[in-house]
Amino acid sequence: MELAIEAENLTKRYGDFVAVNDLELNVKHGEFMGLLGPNGSGKSTTLKMITGLIWPTSGTVRIFGTDVSQHREALSRVGCVIETPEFYMSFTPSEALQYVGRLYGLSEREIAIRSRDVLEDVKMWEWRDKPIQKFSKGMRQRTVLAQAMLPNPDLLILDEPTSGLDPRGMIEMRSVLSELKKRDMSMLISTHMLKEVSEMCDSVTMIRNGNLIASGDVNELIMRYAEQSKKRIEISIRTMNPIADSVLKDISSCQGVYDIQPMGDYEVRIQFSGSLEDQSVIVDLIQAAGLKMVAMNEKGMDIERLYMELTKGGEANIR
Ligand SMILES: Nc1ncnc2c1ncn2[C@@H]1O[C@H](COP(=O)(O)OP(=O)(O)OP(=O)(O)O)[C@@H](O)[C@H]1O
Ligand SMILES: [Mg+2]
Repeated sequence: MELAIEAENLTKRYGDFVAVNDLELNVKHGEFMGLLGPNGSGKSTTLKMITGLIWPTSGTVRIFGTDVSQHREALSRVGCVIETPEFYMSFTPSEALQYVGRLYGLSEREIAIRSRDVLEDVKMWEWRDKPIQKFSKGMRQRTVLAQAMLPNPDLLILDEPTSGLDPRGMIEMRSVLSELKKRDMSMLISTHMLKEVSEMCDSVTMIRNGNLIASGDVNELIMRYAEQSKKRIEISIRTMNPIADSVLKDISSCQGVYDIQPMGDYEVRIQFSGSLEDQSVIVDLIQAAGLKMVAMNEKGMDIERLYMELTKGGEANIR
């Protein structure tokens, strides 16, 4: 099957410094991929190479099967927003789209039809005639997204589309992107939030210091890693009566417990990785101390913690 993006041995050097090292990245047709990595890991550099904004030191990029270094017209199927774009603040969204549409060589009629479509897609239609300078950052980001979508691209590439937005702005942008995902469109977005990837994307390419550390189906990857890290879970126990320090101490020395955190007098959170038998020893211990348990909850490995582990180095190579 034809791939939307096929990047092979992609490398970018700045003098002696290797910003992106021998990266492989494949996005299937209709797939929504997250390029995940911490600050300075090479996300923007990778996206700039893919969209032809900078030349790779070595390696190739094919968009829908066409090598972009030889046929730049392959990029005409790509809509992109890379890093904070300059904006025509005194324009309204309608005017900005008209300007962009003319650059793309669309007719006035096409511009009118497409503008309405994309502004509705990004939930900015009702703001079409208001000056952009009055918009919140989230609204500006969505307006820029509308520009990228104007020529009806088959592939969207967005560099940190939710970066710098407040929680509400993030939720709105994610909901717009999740809607787009339902279309026959391929997407590559960069982010430093694993949560964002797990919420929106089908697949992930994870990088650190310009190197690939993992890639594949998002859920599969999280499961596989959680398994490798011995299914670390958090158990929270709530009791009717206060938990004495001596009980906390006993719990902390149980098999499988590697951290405990009292949450006030009546609750303790236990970071645990062990067998069910090990777990039952903790319950027995609580009961033997005469404490009445009101609730016991188990949570899988917290996604942010997983990400911290994956990006901290060393053991994370799970390809
Ligand atoms: N033009 C340049 N000249 C020299 N070094 C550069 C240049 N552009 C990027 N770098 C370096 O390459 C590395 C990767 O940068 P890049 O901007 O791709 O990271 P990023 O993952 O997008 O980070 P962020 O999350 O902060 O946006 C960084 O160490 C950066 O300093
Ligand atoms: Mg960046």
